[in-house]
Amino acid sequence: MLSHMLQLDITGTLAKVITPSLGIPENDLATIRNTLKSYLDDFLKEREAGKHEWAMSPYDKAVVSAVEDQAARMKRQKIDTIIWVGIGGSGLGPRVIKEVFETVETPELIIIDTIDPSVIKEELKLIDFERAFLCIASKSGGTLEPMAAFFLFEEKMVQALGERAAERILVITDPEEGVLKEYADEKGYETLPIHPQVGGRYSIFTPVGLLPLALLSGDLSAFIRGAKEMDTICQSADLAENPAMQLAAVQFLLDTKRDYIIRVIMPYATRLQSLGRWEQQLLAESLGKTEAYGPMPVAAIGTQDQHSMLQQWIQGRRVMWHLFIREEEKEHLSLPVISPESLSYLSGKGFGQILDALYEGTLESLTAAKRPHATITLQRLDEYHLGQLFFLFMVEVVLLGKLYRVDPYGQPGVEMGKKIAKEILSRRA
Ligand code: PA5
Repeated sequence: MLSHMLQLDITGTLAKVITPSLGIPENDLATIRNTLKSYLDDFLKEREAGKHEWAMSPYDKAVVSAVEDQAARMKRQKIDTIIWVGIGGSGLGPRVIKEVFETVETPELIIIDTIDPSVIKEELKLIDFERAFLCIASKSGGTLEPMAAFFLFEEKMVQALGERAAERILVITDPEEGVLKEYADEKGYETLPIHPQVGGRYSIFTPVGLLPLALLSGDLSAFIRGAKEMDTICQSADLAENPAMQLAAVQFLLDTKRDYIIRVIMPYATRLQSLGRWEQQLLAESLGKTEAYGPMPVAAIGTQDQHSMLQQWIQGRRVMWHLFIREEEKEHLSLPVISPESLSYLSGKGFGQILDALYEGTLESLTAAKRPHATITLQRLDEYHLGQLFFLFMVEVVLLGKLYRVDPYGQPGVEMGKKIAKEILSRRA
């Protein structure tokens, strides 16, 4: 594997490290290697035949240039706030981008993925609509929460800007169908497409992820290059070279052979907090379709959750395994010289050094407690490595769909609740 690619270390899940009865034996890995090879082959053939359309998103040059044009147009208008309305994949992906790339120099990206009136009312007080841009992202164009929020924010834009509001509203949706697309066309709003075959949680390389990145002055080409390079290595039939195959193997074996049903996703980087929630959605909605088995994803964050959950992870029920994500090269920020004798070990230390030490402490204590863990290390938390990471997780989930024998697309289980909510709202005045 190339040295600038993210590194996946699964050693901490192996029987030889954490004890034969608690970790993955070599022969299980050897057996699943062949199964995964053939599933990878199926994935690639299906992709050739037009399935798994999300995997082609990084190669869609027309969409990338449409995103660049829109971002340039938006930047030409004097804007300091982008109101981003979207939920599920249409909100979580942009939230990851915001957390990693928003700075004091960029416009503020306000993500409205809520219909809690108290939160929305506060946002309404804070936003200067004359200097704002409104984007809605909804693949289906019919999701209740973003549609409700959109109409309210649209009204505020019109109140502030009159006819000019239309130039400051952008709709990201299915280009072929949906009430939102019809509405945008009727109102003359600019639109960007989410490919008809790409669902919300797989949409990070469509305008759902690309536009926020461009608006926050992120490097789109590096993001896409990261995805493409990950795509290339995830096509390798060699388990040792293919991180998606390795991750899927570890996930499946720990769950089905060792009863570690919970996957804790724990970045040791605060800017990746929402990445954990994005991954949680990807796993839960893609694989949670059978009562028999399947990972229960839990998003955690280092170091904060060392002070809330680690106790249970070390001595509680043996039902969880940990996937850590960390960045190697961190910002330089050091402590001054510290006077209390008992804290002198901190004197002059870098915050990055302290973060690493706490990560290593967690890792080693999990190993000592014979609890499985793996780590993904990004050289830097930048566009290129983030592109790799997103792509890796999506390939993994497709392979897991095959191992668990579930369709990783669609989310039929959530439809009934939506239908009931609509009926209730239609009945009540
Ligand atoms: O993964 C999915 O497809 C869903 O969870 C969607 O992200 C979520 O329901 C929002 O859908 P939409 O983008 O159509 O508004």
